[in-house]
Amino acid sequence: MKIELMKENDIQACSVILQKAYEQAPYNEVFELGVAEGHIKSKYGSENKNSFVALDDENEILGFIIVSEDVWVGGKQAVIEEFAVDSIVQHQGVGRSLMEHTRNHLKENGFVSMVLWATKDKRLVDFYTQQGFSVSENSVVMFGKL
Ligand SMILES: CC(C)(COP(=O)(O)OP(=O)(O)OC[C@H]1O[C@@H](n2cnc3c(N)ncnc32)[C@H](O)[C@@H]1OP(=O)(O)O)[C@@H](O)C(=O)NCCC(=O)NCCS
Repeated sequence: MKIELMKENDIQACSVILQKAYEQAPYNEVFELGVAEGHIKSKYGSENKNSFVALDDENEILGFIIVSEDVWVGGKQAVIEEFAVDSIVQHQGVGRSLMEHTRNHLKENGFVSMVLWATKDKRLVDFYTQQGFSVSENSVVMFGKL
């Protein structure tokens, strides 16, 4: 497996991965492909220097992580906008490798922190905890129904 910068050409394959990944528990969401693609396009933006894809030996995309840049107290903060691994190859370390690669890249590029929003699912929270994340003591995510 190799990890490379995500390119605009990768958006379609990542959209299929996103669609399949969120069909599973705990989400059970059915996205149309066009909706998934619109979501990925908007998160990726026009050019992204901090987003990565994991590829197999045949250059098929196994998973991806989209990261945007923000500035917060203390300096540059990375926002994990989207992160998914093809449901067929989950539990094989692809997500962990993508996250570790991204973390090293961000450190080398002067970022001081990362932030993300995750569903309250124990396995997911355990995964992020293993990756060095912790629940914020200062912030809470608020939701307003419209
Ligand atoms: C979360 C995700 C990216 C992890 O990728 P992965 O390649 O399966 O991760 P790894 O193989 O490196 O590590 C797997 C570990 O993550 C944890 N995990 C947490 N939530 C999980 C989930 N929904 N599915 C699989 N593993 C999950 C488990 O501890 C698992 O360990 P195990 O394989 O021993 O059970 C992947 O499961 C995925 O795409 N999930 C759906 C989309 C999603 O939740 N994205 C994150 C949004 S915040």
